[in-house]
Amino acid sequence: TSHRIDALSPGVFSLDGRDIEFGPGDTIMQAVTRAGGYIPHLCWMEGFHPHGSCRLCTVKVNGRMGAACTVLASTGQIVESDTEELRTLRRTLLQMLFVEGNHFCPSCEKSGNCRLQATAYEAGMTGPHFEEFYPQRKVDASHPDLLLDLNRCILCELCVRASHDLDGKDVFAVSGHGIDAHLVVNSPSGLLGDSALLATDHAAKVCPVGALLPKRQGFAVPIGKRKFDLKPISASSPFDEAP
Ligand code: FES
Repeated sequence: TSHRIDALSPGVFSLDGRDIEFGPGDTIMQAVTRAGGYIPHLCWMEGFHPHGSCRLCTVKVNGRMGAACTVLASTGQIVESDTEELRTLRRTLLQMLFVEGNHFCPSCEKSGNCRLQATAYEAGMTGPHFEEFYPQRKVDASHPDLLLDLNRCILCELCVRASHDLDGKDVFAVSGHGIDAHLVVNSPSGLLGDSALLATDHAAKVCPVGALLPKRQGFAVPIGKRKFDLKPISASSPFDEAP
C-alpha cells in the first residue's frame, strides 16, 4: 500500500502542529522521541520491539486512534497527542493500572524512579477514581540479589522482551488472560532464586515500576533526589534507559 511505501522512505509528519522528521521504518513514537518530543508510554522503550499493550501512547493519526509505538510514520500524517480528549483517556488508563495492582507509592522503593508514578503525575492524575481491586499477589524474595513483587507489575513485558531478546534466557513470561494475566518465572520451582536471572542482566534492570528491584540498595538515593523528583518524565531523556 502507499502507507507501506511511505514508511520505507524518510519524510515529515505533523505532531500537534510541529513538523517531525522521520527515517525509513520509524514508528511515530521513534520519530517523536528522536526529535526530543514526548508521547506518554509505559510498555515501549527505545531499543525494544514495540508491544502495543498499555495504550498510554494513544494518539490520533489523521483523526483515527492508534498506538504511537506501533503505527509507522508516513509523510503528511496529522498526529494529535496533546489534546484534552487524549489526556483524559490516558488518565483513565493510568487509574485502571493503579487499581488493578497494589501501588502504594509512599512506601515503595521505586518512588521517584517509577515510570508509572511519574507518568501519572504528569497526566494530572490526583486519585484512583475507580474502586481498588486489592488483588492478592505474591512477593518472591528467593533470589539472592533481586526482589520480585508482583503487586506492582503492570504487565508491560519489558523484562520478558529483555530476557529473550537481549539476555537470551527467557526467564519471564506472561500467563493467563485479562484480569488473570500475570508474570511467571521460568524455573523448576517457579521461584526467581531458582532461575537463570542475574542482577547484571538487562531483564533485571528494565522494570519501569517497582516490581523487580535490586536488594540491599534501598534508599541509596533519598526520596526527593531521584530521577523524576528532579525532572518530569516528559523532560527526562528516554535514551538514559535504553539497553
Ligand atoms: Fe504504546 Fe504502550 S507505549 S502501547
